[in-house]
Amino acid sequence: SNNVINAKLVLLGDMGAGKSSLVLRFVKGQFLEFQESTIGAAFFSQTLALNDATVKFEIWDTAGQERYHSLAPMYYRGAAAAVIVYDITSNDSFERAKKWVVELQKQGNPNMVMALAGNKADLEDKRKVSADDARAYAEENGLYFIETSAKTAINVNDMFYEIGRRLPRA
Ligand code: GTP
Ligand code: MG
Repeated sequence: SNNVINAKLVLLGDMGAGKSSLVLRFVKGQFLEFQESTIGAAFFSQTLALNDATVKFEIWDTAGQERYHSLAPMYYRGAAAAVIVYDITSNDSFERAKKWVVELQKQGNPNMVMALAGNKADLEDKRKVSADDARAYAEENGLYFIETSAKTAINVNDMFYEIGRRLPRA
């Protein structure tokens, strides 16, 4: 059909987890070893053609630095989807991700599609967060879980396609 879905999507997570890198990989197919830390937030758009619908993502890439925390509700309010990103080499980033989940469960749109992305999956030798622990946490909280690498591109497109498949149809 010509079902077009406009979907606001927000990325949240600790500074340095790789939110901007995931967006850059998805939108431009690029990766930067020295990606600059985001100030405030950045906007991108990307269209995906699925079998039954075209999804137009309006993507808000937020800043992970704590001093920007108070801005976050502007970006997740009204969002159809959220990607909460942590870095598999950092336990702190996983703890920060859980705090975002709690905040979204309290303040976010109740129908929001939520994904938990364990990024930097290419750094297996530095892994601190086990995939089993993260998957169990995601299942308990009704999140879609995937490990990604913005660097190698592994699972990045798959994640956005899966989110698109989970969005409610008009
Ligand atoms: P803030 O904007 O400060 O919140 O950070 P961010 O979450 O947007 O992280 P960003 O994308 O800026 O990435 C931080 C650093 O991690 C950069 O140097 C990236 O090159 C690196 N990086 C991001 N994703 C990956 C990945 O999948 N693998 C590896 N090895 N490095 C990554
Ligand atoms: Mg960023």
